[in-house]
Amino acid sequence: MPRTTETPWWRDAVIYQVYPRSWADSDGDGVGDLPGITARLPHLAELGVDAVWLSPFYTSPQNDAGYDVADYRDVDPLFGTLDDFDALVAEAHGLGLKVVVDVVPNHSSSEHAWFRAALASPPGSPERARYVFRDGRGEGGDEPPNNWQSTFGGSAWTRVTEPDGTKGQWYLHLFDSTQPDFDWTNPEVREELEDVLRFWLDRGADGFRIDVAHGLVKADGLPDANPDYDLATDPTNSQPMWDQEGVHEIYRSWRRIADSYATPGDPDSERLLCAEAWVVPAENLVKYVRPDELHQSFNFEYLMTPWIAAEQREAVAQALEHAAAVGAPQTWVLSNHDVVRHASRLGYPQTPGARRVPGVGPEHEQPDAELGLRRARAATTLMLSLPGSAYVYQGEELGLPDVTDLPHEHRQDPTWHRSGPADVGRDGCRVPMAWESDAPAYGFNDTGRSWLPQPASYGRLAVDTQRGVEGSTLELYRTLLRLRRERGLGTGELTWLDLGQDVVAFSVTATDGTATTVVANLGRAPVALPDGEVLVTSEPLADGRLGVDTTAWLAG
Ligand code: NOJ
Repeated sequence: MPRTTETPWWRDAVIYQVYPRSWADSDGDGVGDLPGITARLPHLAELGVDAVWLSPFYTSPQNDAGYDVADYRDVDPLFGTLDDFDALVAEAHGLGLKVVVDVVPNHSSSEHAWFRAALASPPGSPERARYVFRDGRGEGGDEPPNNWQSTFGGSAWTRVTEPDGTKGQWYLHLFDSTQPDFDWTNPEVREELEDVLRFWLDRGADGFRIDVAHGLVKADGLPDANPDYDLATDPTNSQPMWDQEGVHEIYRSWRRIADSYATPGDPDSERLLCAEAWVVPAENLVKYVRPDELHQSFNFEYLMTPWIAAEQREAVAQALEHAAAVGAPQTWVLSNHDVVRHASRLGYPQTPGARRVPGVGPEHEQPDAELGLRRARAATTLMLSLPGSAYVYQGEELGLPDVTDLPHEHRQDPTWHRSGPADVGRDGCRVPMAWESDAPAYGFNDTGRSWLPQPASYGRLAVDTQRGVEGSTLELYRTLLRLRRERGLGTGELTWLDLGQDVVAFSVTATDGTATTVVANLGRAPVALPDGEVLVTSEPLADGRLGVDTTAWLAG
């Protein structure tokens, strides 16, 4: 479908997330890097995605796998150099792929020059005013300034030792203690992060994924949080650290910057801003994508929806309605580097109303791998038909499972160190990619080193075992992405069909009138398909009928 200013690339883009540590390792040190990514970019062109999003590769002590940035304008030597970034962008653009990078504006690393300066400076100094330093409560200031908890577990406050050796102030960190929160009421912070955006836009980045987009502004006076807060029932903005009204002014300003890089009248030149915002209810989330704010926000509600027909229908319908209310495209995502991969998540019994699946360790009940993969293929076939933009996480195109039996001694996620064993953390979805079944580290590098051990199942699912193999998950993704583009699904209009309570069925009509019928069977028995040429199915049909946990696309 031809692009117009009404349908710029980001409205229906399929964006592939690369976790740089784990995709391709050119120097064989066991951690992926930018030259490794550049060399493997043809895989993405062959797959048929529109863009690649790179998780952080900036200078960092890697306490939270790079989401702890020490220098926002440089590449960590672990991943390469700025020249390597330029080469990656040039290669991607040559292949017709956009490059989206991560920006981490809520917090820096404690090794950032600003935070070091803050520690070396007295309370009340301009250096401290870039972060959230407060005196403690109680006698001698021995208690944290409020009751906020870190997302990774434990208090959100750490006390410092002042330069003169006395016990001192406390600083806020909504994540690890090595990730101090910036104070966004300070104009210096705003200017600095805006300059960081310009730095990467000037180097050719096509957009940003914004980390913790809902956390930058805290409620005035930093009041105590409700200790009984329940994300499932309370709006996020009932909590003083999340989704405060003040964030929206920041994003209006960011939008002006992004827009200033686009060539008027050229829909292909627009720069994308996508929020990582775990915000409920949806009415609040769509505020981030009003016309003068961000272009997209991740639809985590959809990611968390159980594989139950009524809940899937409701999640899709609600999401489309909310996005339409502000004129934004909806986004769809099933896996990323923070959640259990959907090929494993869906291998558990699906509980009505359930939301999050916590990390899985060897001591937990293990998922049914076969069932999980079958449902994952059906769920992806459903997702990639939906109007809007979709995100694909590295390795899901191979059907990679989460590594749910990763021995604890390998764990590196700060969640494990702060909350284990209650929460095993996110390492299971971050295990390096599998390219070649018979190569060292399955082709991740040529030394066989890997920062997290790869399971044997990854070898069996490596790219070279699936490329060109009919029915493989890789070929299913390629077919879906090709048909999605050819049939204009991403910019289409969805109309619901009623094929029974256990079936999710709808038709998507493209702007040129091409209609595609999508049928997903989430019940317990095969169902008949409506008339029409079958374009693709997530599993072979049995006697012309759509089997359990199977999705089909039909012409018409
Ligand atoms: C969200 C990122 O996706 C996650 O990996 C990280 O730990 C937190 N933000 C903190 O930056």
